Amino acid sequence: MPATQLPVAPVVKQLEKDFDGAVQRLCDLLRIPSISTDPAYKAQTRQAGKWCADELKRIGFDSTLRDTPGHPMVVAHFNPEGENGRNARSTSSRTNGSPHILYYGHYDVQPPDPLELWEHPPFEPTIVDGPQGKRVVARGAVDDKGQMMTMIEAFRAWMKVHGTLPVRVTVLLEGEEESGSPSLDPFLKANKKELSADVCVVSDTGMWNIQTPAITYMLRGLVYIEATLHGPSHDLHSGMYGGTLVNPINALCKIVGELHDKDRVVQIPGFYDDVEELSDEEKKMWKGLGFKEKEFLGGAGVKSGAGEKGRSTMERMWSRPTCDANGIYGGYTGKGAKTVIAAHATAKISCRLVPSQDPQKVYDGLVKFLKDRTPPDCRWEIHPHGINPAIRVPTESPYLEAAMKGLKQTFSKPPVLIGCGGSIPLVGSVQKILGFDSLLVGFGLEDDRVHSPNEKFELKCYEMGMKSHAAILSAFAEVEG
Ligand code: BES
Ligand code: MN
Ligand code: MN
Repeated sequence: MPATQLPVAPVVKQLEKDFDGAVQRLCDLLRIPSISTDPAYKAQTRQAGKWCADELKRIGFDSTLRDTPGHPMVVAHFNPEGENGRNARSTSSRTNGSPHILYYGHYDVQPPDPLELWEHPPFEPTIVDGPQGKRVVARGAVDDKGQMMTMIEAFRAWMKVHGTLPVRVTVLLEGEEESGSPSLDPFLKANKKELSADVCVVSDTGMWNIQTPAITYMLRGLVYIEATLHGPSHDLHSGMYGGTLVNPINALCKIVGELHDKDRVVQIPGFYDDVEELSDEEKKMWKGLGFKEKEFLGGAGVKSGAGEKGRSTMERMWSRPTCDANGIYGGYTGKGAKTVIAAHATAKISCRLVPSQDPQKVYDGLVKFLKDRTPPDCRWEIHPHGINPAIRVPTESPYLEAAMKGLKQTFSKPPVLIGCGGSIPLVGSVQKILGFDSLLVGFGLEDDRVHSPNEKFELKCYEMGMKSHAAILSAFAEVEG
């Protein structure tokens, strides 16, 4: 039987049979503290990459760990039509009419801090009972190790049952997503031919709720800077000097305060110039989702919420740009009191962007906003931490339809199209450098505590995620070239 017609039902059975094994494997990966942003975890981050590369090799992929100036990339290939070796890496996609799919995930995680708020150590994965059944609690459980493993487990089951995959697959796993993907663009440029495919599948987003799967068609972009305001040449006695010269902390706080007006509208000139209003069709679609605002805000421990005046919570979250301080420091922050005028103060400031905004223009506008307000005797030192555009993926693609079909087969409720407030740098880079679109099929839930203490992944989501990927692989095989 041609690989494109192999049945998916026995693959789903195999996933059920081996589910405990899949949970054990995820726990093995979660035990490796792959904190990409912290140089102290360089070796462990590499170890997690190697773990993934070895796992793909065991499944039957031609799998390699590739060095970059930062953390390594995993690249693995399986071509059902050709011999499964290095020479099978022909660049043309759609040979024999079957599509070529690039699967992406990231094996790095956010730092677990603050540690004291974890109920179990962040790198000792623990299975606990919750209202939706069992869940695994650990840093990286849902972002993105658990989600990445939904794809890998689907490949494993397909290979175990049929000895092949129904489409040609390339896997790209990154170890720097949580630290702004600095090596990604050069890597895509240098390996453009090898990574070329028809579409890129990403499992790093959420479902609508535990019964309702979702495909994310909008991602916000991100412009992130760290800005230090330098004032006096050294720290000063606040009794001797206080009131006689610029205090960088006071000045920085005032400038950060000026980023918004009283209606919380961002004051950077030109910030909203290219922002598009939602179409009537989109408004209708979003309304139909039945967003539960109280539950959403309640999940964050607040009642009324706040944001740009005159906009709904859904708009504020998915389709409006923001500017936020993410960290602020300077002066004496230790225990007790110390009377000091600090020599400098720093703010980490990020803007979330929406489609059509030019990230470079927003970056320049933000920097100019700060510089225009430089107090006397002061100067700015500014470090960029990443500039990524927002993304809209086409909703009329045959691959999206195939993914919808696979999700429909797996879940009792039909999939919905949603937006996402977060960012995934790869999606813009693949569009720009490799020239094809991405398909964002994720299995996270709103209450997963992404980037937060006690991050978790529901085992139900893990199971449904891998079954979905198994079914989507089949549906891809039917997409006409
Ligand atoms: N998986 C997230 C993106 C995400 C967040 C999707 C929330 C769905 C819901 C991703 O790992 C992430 O955290 N991205 C960063 C990007 C940054 C480090 C460039 C983000 O959005 O802050
Ligand atoms: Mn992620
Ligand atoms: Mn993340």
